[in-house]
Amino acid sequence: MSKNLVVAIDGYSSCGKSTLAKALAKKLHFIYVDSGAMYRAVTLYFIRNNIKLDDEFAVENALKQIHLNFHSLDYQTHITLNDEEVSTEIRQMPVSENVSEVSALKSVRKEMVKQQQRMGKLKNIIMDGRDIGTTVFPYAEVKIFMIADPKIRAERRFKEAKSKEENISLEEIFDNIAHRDFLDTTRKESPLTRAKDAIVLDNTTLSEKQQLEFALERVKPFIFQND
Ligand code: DC
Repeated sequence: MSKNLVVAIDGYSSCGKSTLAKALAKKLHFIYVDSGAMYRAVTLYFIRNNIKLDDEFAVENALKQIHLNFHSLDYQTHITLNDEEVSTEIRQMPVSENVSEVSALKSVRKEMVKQQQRMGKLKNIIMDGRDIGTTVFPYAEVKIFMIADPKIRAERRFKEAKSKEENISLEEIFDNIAHRDFLDTTRKESPLTRAKDAIVLDNTTLSEKQQLEFALERVKPFIFQND
């Protein structure tokens, strides 16, 4: 098997990137990194510490105080912010409503990309996000760009929120997704865009199993090339 195989999965919010990435990582015994969780944890820190996004000095200073760590328990994302487990809190609305603005900041992106590239140096890795195939790992062996009907995306996210007894309406979720799509695709610093060599996966009508098969087909040639 080739060393340090990188699979980059990018796409819009709530497109099922992490579900696919986790399933693929489990199947291949790769490391899975949810890069969105890193931007979310930074956002949580900024909210808690009342960091003003237009205060460059405060942002730069805050970034120096933030230490993120992942630990993978059965391929679920567990992230700590300065040793505090924040995996649940970063998924809640206050963070979701602010994360696109925070992740549009140049200094935030610079620091996160640096940390992400470090993670890809030594291991076989699957990373999902918005700029993985374009900026973080432009030489990734496999790049998948996920899309899905926005209404379906909101419905899936709503189901998930209900199962966790989160008090949020379908409309609020739909609006949040649309708002984040807009900000993520129009920001100046590495906006969400399909890398030229990324293959599009539209999962509007695909089951999780079909998506996994699609991805495995793309990865297989690299896994078996040196066997
Ligand atoms: O994948 P997610 O929805 O948890 O990501 C949260 C936000 O983080 C998303 O709205 C945009 C930002 N993000 C980013 O800018 N770059 C990444 N590689 C991953 C996420």
